[in-house]
Amino acid sequence: MNELIKIKMSDQDNESWPSFIQDAIIDKNKYSLQVESERKLCENCDYLYFSEGKLQFHSVDLGNMCFDFEETYKYHQRQKYAIGREPLAKALGIKGNDSPIVWDTTCGTGKDSLLIHYFGAKLRSFERHPAIYLLLVDAKRRFPLDFELVFADASQLIEGNQPDVIYYDPMYPEKSGSKKSALPRKEMRIFKEIVGEDFDSVDFLDWALKTAKSRVVVKRSISSLPVKEKPSASYLGKSTRYDMYKIF
Ligand SMILES: C[S@@+](CC[C@H](N)C(=O)[O-])C[C@H]1O[C@@H](n2cnc3c(N)ncnc32)[C@H](O)[C@@H]1O
Repeated sequence: MNELIKIKMSDQDNESWPSFIQDAIIDKNKYSLQVESERKLCENCDYLYFSEGKLQFHSVDLGNMCFDFEETYKYHQRQKYAIGREPLAKALGIKGNDSPIVWDTTCGTGKDSLLIHYFGAKLRSFERHPAIYLLLVDAKRRFPLDFELVFADASQLIEGNQPDVIYYDPMYPEKSGSKKSALPRKEMRIFKEIVGEDFDSVDFLDWALKTAKSRVVVKRSISSLPVKEKPSASYLGKSTRYDMYKIF
């Protein structure tokens, strides 16, 4: 599925790299990595590299990007959410001492995962794109939080235990002619450039509905059609909608 991702080895300080990068390089086929020395790396290509104490993605067109869990988590803390009124918490069924086991099957930048963790769910997060996964591992190394990150397509996981809730937020194409006034932030543009689109949302939802014990929640933009008719309930945010499918 994935193209090879180049990872830049500088000629000096690779030994100071965190062990997860060294392990990923040893297991480079698993992560579709191609190790290139600084001297050989072509000028017009994108790559991962370790610099200033963090793993970063360099996009030729857009610049550099990494994930910052500390910034995201502190942002969530500042919001002082009333959890009982938050559309995502309501969709996931998180209330009071009720903290379900949630699988965020589309971890992406980790922003929703951190929110779900902040709301108090017992969280496990999946990411299938190797570059995004490695950036997430690095963000969690720099700001450790108590949830598990798994490098896998969640629907390919063969396991006995089922989560209470599956959360799903696939990448859709930008709507042509959409009237967004500003471009997304640079990081979001690089993220979209890396990930592309997720084309398997209907099949994935079928799998999720067979796997979750109590509910499946799908994030959509507010004006989009549901991935599958008819959700049991929909919870509206400012620009997003969470479609909840109850499992009976
Ligand atoms: C729209 S983004 C999710 C954004 C995320 N909710 C956030 O807060 O940043 C979709 C992400 O899920 C990943 N993904 C899509 N389908 C997946 C699957 N079946 N298993 C694991 N990861 C998946 C994609 O690689 C991409 O990084």
